Amino acid sequence: MKAVVLVGGAGTRLRPLTYTTPKPLLPIANVAFLERQLTWLARYGVDEAVLSLGYLPEAFTDHFSDERFGDMKLRFVVEHEPLGTAGGIRFAADGINERVLVCNGDVLTDLDLGAFVDFHESHGAEATISLARVDDPSAFGVVPTREDGEVIAFVEKPLRDQAPTNWINAGTYVLEPSVLSSIPLRLNVSIERETFPRMLERPGQLYAMRSEGYWLDIGTPTKYLEAQMDVLEGKAGLPPTPTAVEREPGVWIEPGALIASDATLIAPVLIGSDSTVEPRARVASSVVGPRASIGAGAVVTDSVVLADTAVDAGAELDGVVLGPDARLDGKAEA
Ligand code: GTP
Repeated sequence: MKAVVLVGGAGTRLRPLTYTTPKPLLPIANVAFLERQLTWLARYGVDEAVLSLGYLPEAFTDHFSDERFGDMKLRFVVEHEPLGTAGGIRFAADGINERVLVCNGDVLTDLDLGAFVDFHESHGAEATISLARVDDPSAFGVVPTREDGEVIAFVEKPLRDQAPTNWINAGTYVLEPSVLSSIPLRLNVSIERETFPRMLERPGQLYAMRSEGYWLDIGTPTKYLEAQMDVLEGKAGLPPTPTAVEREPGVWIEPGALIASDATLIAPVLIGSDSTVEPRARVASSVVGPRASIGAGAVVTDSVVLADTAVDAGAELDGVVLGPDARLDGKAEA
């Protein structure tokens, strides 16, 4: 099966990190987010992914320069102006005349895609949306359904106490070719605000499947930090990285890391490859990236130190994403 992954957004809420690295290539526990997503797709038999690019496209073509990810073939389609979610899907899927999976390139999930496609097929839907349950739906597109899953309405960002349900559009879709061809080519169109609401005019086309699995939109600084801790705690379904070894529960070390015997590591923690943690340093609930250094006596709490970054002796970091390739010689806190 083919997938279209929407990765063309500018990721403004994660600036300044996204000035140089597009959001889908930012690391989550030392693995580029998009690699985690492609691993998930591959697990369910997706053998070709079309990356719908717009912002910083060269970052993607450089990262996946052999146009493959494992056994999966990658294709790059670059928009020269933002086409929105539906416009981006239509442009990327041009020439594809079969059912496709579509996912937002900023959602960390362990959704069972096999069950999702079965649900779509058994309902004879033209399009199926995955739904996730959140405590506060006011920042999301809320999707009430009938008992059998047929979508009743789309309610964008309702007031918390006026939301008809806590089930929100989780950003993974199955679309039939009829839906793709109904989207105008090369126009800016939103799937959430235009394509799906228009499908409600004809009953029996649009369904949604509720999933209780793990789901997180990584698009804000708080969620970006939260995603890393969730991965370290195994909530997203896999060990944090293929090469990390769990030295004690929740303390993961990658090859080549040098950790002083009197440094303190408090789970969940991941220390990246070829990094150093010097004497008396304390790293708690944090990720240290590859080739980073944590100086003697430094204290790193609830933070992510990105690749090639130096935290000097005695420095303190709390609730912060630092780097890549930066240096801290004082105190930084959120
Ligand atoms: P913010 O600027 O912080 O809102 O982030 P964003 O640019 O990623 O936007 P948003 O979170 O709404 O996007 C959801 C998903 O759609 C992300 O994976 C984006 O990369 C992608 N996306 C958003 N707009 C476009 C677009 O115009 N074209 C393409 N191809 N993808 C898009």
